[in-house]
Amino acid sequence: MQFYNYIGGQWRPSASGKTFLNINPADTSDIIGEFPQSTDSDVRIAAEAAREAYKTWRLVPAPKRGDLLRKAGQILAARKDELACEMTREMGKVFAETKGDVQEAIDTAYYAATEGRRLFGYTVPSELPNKFAMSIRQPIGVAGCITPWNFPLAIPSWKIFPALLCGNTVVFKPAMDTPKTAHTFVEILIEAGIPEGVINLVHGGDEAGKAVVADPNIQLISFTGSSETGKIVAQHCAAQHKRVSLEMGGKNAVILMDDADLQLALEGVVWGAFGTTGQRCTATSRLLLHEKIHDKFVEMLIRRVERLRIGNGNDAGVDMGPVINAEQMQRILDYIELGKQEGATCIIGGTRLTENGLAKGFFVAPTIFTNVKPEYRIAQEEIFGPVLSVLKFNTFEEAVKILNGVRYGLSSSLYTHNINLAFRAIRDFEAGITYINAPTIGAEAHLPFGGVKETGNGHREGGWQVYDFFSETKTVYVDFSGALQRAQIDNYDK
Ligand code: UN1
Repeated sequence: MQFYNYIGGQWRPSASGKTFLNINPADTSDIIGEFPQSTDSDVRIAAEAAREAYKTWRLVPAPKRGDLLRKAGQILAARKDELACEMTREMGKVFAETKGDVQEAIDTAYYAATEGRRLFGYTVPSELPNKFAMSIRQPIGVAGCITPWNFPLAIPSWKIFPALLCGNTVVFKPAMDTPKTAHTFVEILIEAGIPEGVINLVHGGDEAGKAVVADPNIQLISFTGSSETGKIVAQHCAAQHKRVSLEMGGKNAVILMDDADLQLALEGVVWGAFGTTGQRCTATSRLLLHEKIHDKFVEMLIRRVERLRIGNGNDAGVDMGPVINAEQMQRILDYIELGKQEGATCIIGGTRLTENGLAKGFFVAPTIFTNVKPEYRIAQEEIFGPVLSVLKFNTFEEAVKILNGVRYGLSSSLYTHNINLAFRAIRDFEAGITYINAPTIGAEAHLPFGGVKETGNGHREGGWQVYDFFSETKTVYVDFSGALQRAQIDNYDK
């Protein structure tokens, strides 16, 4: 089936005439569709359409814009199972998880709808008599939203709903691995009543992404992807004074103290490391075990991971699906080789899975390394696959040092019953998110989401904070004294 870009209210192919195929990572003989491979001329037309539509969309009252987003949320809710099934087919994670992905978009839609009746500014007293002072929120212009494939609905919704609610129009460039979900998402926005030109969809890869970042009609960029690409995006945005929000890599750790509830931690670690086949920026990729419980917990982990059922995420009873594509599978297998060469011990997994009908997909066994040293590359670099590195520590201080000893800072977790340690973790973990007695994944849509160090650039998605990114502050003074009043002068030096 043939799919198109959506520009200025019309479905149209790329001017390049080129296309790419979207395939099911659990079964590469299952072709989902053919999508346009867009170039800068497609992006230019989309940005012009968005620029034009901005003139009227910015004047639609925010509560009214919110009503349309509520409608989009309702459509998502009504189609939740069908969408989840489609998403699993497209990107592999299991049905329960793609349902969660849809739910995150629904939550984000309803939050945005309500925010339309808030979008608070401040009123503050003026220092001069008979003068009124306030700050209000205004839209910025056209937002370029560049999104990854691992949360094909939730992450676009984190960006696009707040962007639209604030009165911006959007050029949306989804990942090449999940164009179908992006297509359906845009269809839902149209059905909800989002006007022509307000949402524009441009499919494609690097070329299209670069064009979105470079286009002079696009004033702000919201990007989720690797730290390497994010740095290049930021450099291009700096040259044009564009506002940019970057959500990038992670190398998240769980610290497990010797007093922790080991059974609880076991379920958390397995979910954090192998949920979404380890392909979350929040995935648990390091497990720091207190030496007293190290051997026991490793045994528990092996027994639990042996029971994981790997397969097509749309089949009942499957716990873990494939990885996204051939290139990513090779990257993960290369990291596994590297871990062995570095001197770590692969205690389970470590291979591609091809038996039991898995040969047609990109399946990698859940893999665990022990004897990992903090400086090993498998303990430093983001693998984005089902690979967990286990490190041993002696004191809490040492564990914190290891946890913080990476260039990323997204999510972090501590399992303990010791309330003092819990509060030290909250204070000392260098991460945008800290969980106590819960794994590193599972952020909720109404709280700020993002990281420190090379994970982010100071902005947050989710919750109330993302609305700061997508709006500009205007400060307003109304002087009703009828005379010229000079601030800082007339009220002091009379
Ligand atoms: C991501 O990994 O890119 O907290 C986003 C979580 C999800 C979002 C993850 N709610 O794991």
